[in-house]
Amino acid sequence: MTIPRIPQAADPTWTDWNWTQITIEGSHCREIIDNVVDMAHFFYIHYAFPHYFKNVFEGQSAYQYMNGTGREDIRAASPKDGPVSLGTTSVAAYHGPSFMIDELTYHYEDGDIDTILINCHYPVDENNFVLMYGVIVAKKEGVADQEAEALAAQNAGFIKFGFEQDVAIWNNKAPIDNPLLCEEDGPVYQLRRWYQQFYVDVEDVTPEMVDRFEFEIDTTKPNEAWQVEVEANLAARAALETASG
Ligand SMILES: [Fe+2]
Repeated sequence: MTIPRIPQAADPTWTDWNWTQITIEGSHCREIIDNVVDMAHFFYIHYAFPHYFKNVFEGQSAYQYMNGTGREDIRAASPKDGPVSLGTTSVAAYHGPSFMIDELTYHYEDGDIDTILINCHYPVDENNFVLMYGVIVAKKEGVADQEAEALAAQNAGFIKFGFEQDVAIWNNKAPIDNPLLCEEDGPVYQLRRWYQQFYVDVEDVTPEMVDRFEFEIDTTKPNEAWQVEVEANLAARAALETASG
């Protein structure tokens, strides 16, 4: 397994890496792998409506394709002090059991911000792992280096905030080998079969661990329900603001 080269990392029109390392206590690495298929946590944890969500597993790689828009009740899409957000597109892929490259683009009315996020981890023992993540950001044309680095740092801070929300879950998550799932939970079992190939000898790798597998989750229903939830939050906030004058 060769981890693909990231040409942007050596490109002067991209910022340097902004890295963070933390130890996650109380979880096996499998818990972070599970996130590859976890469509719903994007709404609750990363404050996004996942409009498109698809997984592809093949060989030693596991892909997650996600397009989303932000939650209006968390952050207005048209803030008074910033550009209008049109959403994000993300292609995140594990190459091997512990190294993920996420090409994550933030779309704004006045242009895109391209970022690359690396998420990697190694086990300390069955219940603890070290998580490292870093981000680089494309410098916008006409934006001074210093400003681009500041933007990267701000972006890294935002990603870090999102990751820390995941961390709070991993710190408290109990491993369940046979979870009861609904359709929108995604292909958890297929993903775990893919992951299992890294815990057996090469001669014991079976076709179901490496064969190409594709699954797109229909996110229509959950997004409809979440939209109602967000609108209720906004209405409640507006009512509170009216009441408090
Ligand atoms: Fe997450």
